[in-house]
Amino acid sequence: MSDSAPAQNPIDVTVPSAARMYDVLLGGNNNFASDRIAVEQLMVTAPNSRELAVNNRAFLRRVVRTIVGEYNIDQIIDHGSGLPTQDNVHQVAQRLNEHCRVVYVDNDPIVLTQGRALLDENDNVAVIEADMAETDRLLSHPRVQELIDFDRPLAALFVSVLHCVDDQKAAAMVRETVGRLAPGSVVVICQLVSDDPDVRDKVTTLMHEQTHGQWGRVRTEDDVDAYFEGLDVQPPGLGDVSLWRPDTEVLPRQRTHEWTEYGGLALVPAVPASSTT
Ligand SMILES: C[S@@+](CC[C@H](N)C(=O)[O-])C[C@H]1O[C@@H](n2cnc3c(N)ncnc32)[C@H](O)[C@@H]1O
Repeated sequence: MSDSAPAQNPIDVTVPSAARMYDVLLGGNNNFASDRIAVEQLMVTAPNSRELAVNNRAFLRRVVRTIVGEYNIDQIIDHGSGLPTQDNVHQVAQRLNEHCRVVYVDNDPIVLTQGRALLDENDNVAVIEADMAETDRLLSHPRVQELIDFDRPLAALFVSVLHCVDDQKAAAMVRETVGRLAPGSVVVICQLVSDDPDVRDKVTTLMHEQTHGQWGRVRTEDDVDAYFEGLDVQPPGLGDVSLWRPDTEVLPRQRTHEWTEYGGLALVPAVPASSTT
């Protein structure tokens, strides 16, 4: 992408965004010099960031295949969908079920411009601009209401996004979304974690500085476990998602493990899991 944005877009090319930095890590070209410089700085503290991003994207493909192919879900809300890349959620899902409905949600203007051009390719797909933290507003969006039937199970994806928002918003958005889902719905959550406090602090500070506060924090595995409270976590459980039901894809091995994407897949039980014990 050239380093000048179309005049009608409220895009500040001098301020890195999480979406475009992730695009840099995935080898995409929807990013600016500011994003590339920020990624270089990030990789000083977290040199495995490229492999981590590629592995996260592979997890997203595997988990969508599982949701549609094994859990027979045919409607998906992808919170913080990111820039279009190869094998986007609706493409993976519709390969298994051409009727699968997918709503992509993001608040980054470039995601929306590129997404509408590349993702919104059939009637069963919508790309909408919304703050994923505003659950009521998001779920009552006309396109969400048109495509998603909340009386039936659906999948809510929060893949590599909760670290973009603060603790209160992250917890509230998962809780409020889960509260709207029919039993049998699938919730997928993963986010950046580290057991090294130095990595957590340095990356969180860097990302806050770079994105002018448009970020949350690197958390711990325990923090992420808490998001799954009341849900029925499915095998293989919660862990580094690069190891979640791996298949035969040849993926770059992470050279270091200073941080990982940690999480997994859970079902919404008919009775909240905590009250069944
Ligand atoms: C690291 S990318 C993850 C993309 C995709 N989910 C994946 O795993 O490949 C995080 C995405 O979340 C989006 N995002 C961050 N905060 C958001 C918010 N409050 N509402 C909607 N999207 C948000 C960013 O714009 C970015 O596209």
